[in-house]
Amino acid sequence: MKKLAGKTAVITGGNSGIGLATAQEFIAQGAQVIITGRNEKSVNEAVALLGDNAKGVIADSADVNQVKQLGDKVKAITENIDIIFVNAGVGQFNSADQMTEEMFDDIMNINFKGAYFSLQSLLPLVNDGGSVILNTSINAHVGMGGASVYAASKAALLSLGKNLSAELLSRRIRVNSVSPGPVVTPLHTSDKLGLTEEQLAGMGAGLIQQIPVGRFGRSEEIAKTVAFLASDDSTFILGAEIIADGGMATLKGA
Ligand SMILES: NC(=O)c1ccc[n+]([C@@H]2O[C@H](COP(=O)([O-])OP(=O)(O)OC[C@H]3O[C@@H](n4cnc5c(N)ncnc54)[C@H](OP(=O)(O)O)[C@@H]3O)[C@@H](O)[C@H]2O)c1
Repeated sequence: MKKLAGKTAVITGGNSGIGLATAQEFIAQGAQVIITGRNEKSVNEAVALLGDNAKGVIADSADVNQVKQLGDKVKAITENIDIIFVNAGVGQFNSADQMTEEMFDDIMNINFKGAYFSLQSLLPLVNDGGSVILNTSINAHVGMGGASVYAASKAALLSLGKNLSAELLSRRIRVNSVSPGPVVTPLHTSDKLGLTEEQLAGMGAGLIQQIPVGRFGRSEEIAKTVAFLASDDSTFILGAEIIADGGMATLKGA
């Protein structure tokens, strides 16, 4: 039997990268999937790619008013859900002396505030015994120049996972986190990271030096980890974190 047969999942930022790969894995495991995104065209394209078991909802995680309507928009598609993968996020990097208030707010509003209020809006729809997974990052654990605000947004999510899991015990809803190391996705483009091509190439080469397995991860590898946490194979795991980083933080010094 497929791991997620009969389950319905919402994946925020499901039109690209890790979110899209997770939507594909969830569907392969028997789930119905609702993906969210901020851009109608790319959400529609992803839904077309995913096929009949996928639906799309538009919600910009940076806009708390849109995020607060997420539950109602999902409810128009289905009364109840079983799984939430909070994945929408941006990676923007700048040193502390160059950080603008605008960039600070952008990162925090999307990665933490948007995630938080997405959960507030969606949790009433989650069936007892459901599973919530937060996509954090290895940056919550390692020190990296330029990453202070991004890392703080992910550390905040990690903390949220534990506290929310405690709050949701009576509903048997488990909250866990996955913390990827560098993964090949559209996030690693000069546009999204706000870097020049040269800076991007330098950053990539520098990161590979720090990954003991000698390569970036693949979205599918993270998707399978998320599917495990979403499934009943992980029913004794709550408030926990799985680090999937090719050894970047876990084998530090190896
Ligand atoms: N790739 C890595 O190395 C890595 C490592 C650790 C953690 N992560 C985390 O993994 C998550 C997914 O990233 P990815 O690597 O798969 O990159 P990605 O392909 O850029 O995916 C990010 C997703 O989030 C969406 N998103 C961004 N801002 C949004 C907003 N304001 N409202 C709604 N959706 C928004 C993006 O939509 P658009 O397509 O419209 O931009 C996209 O669907 C992020 O939270 C990231 O921090 C990534």
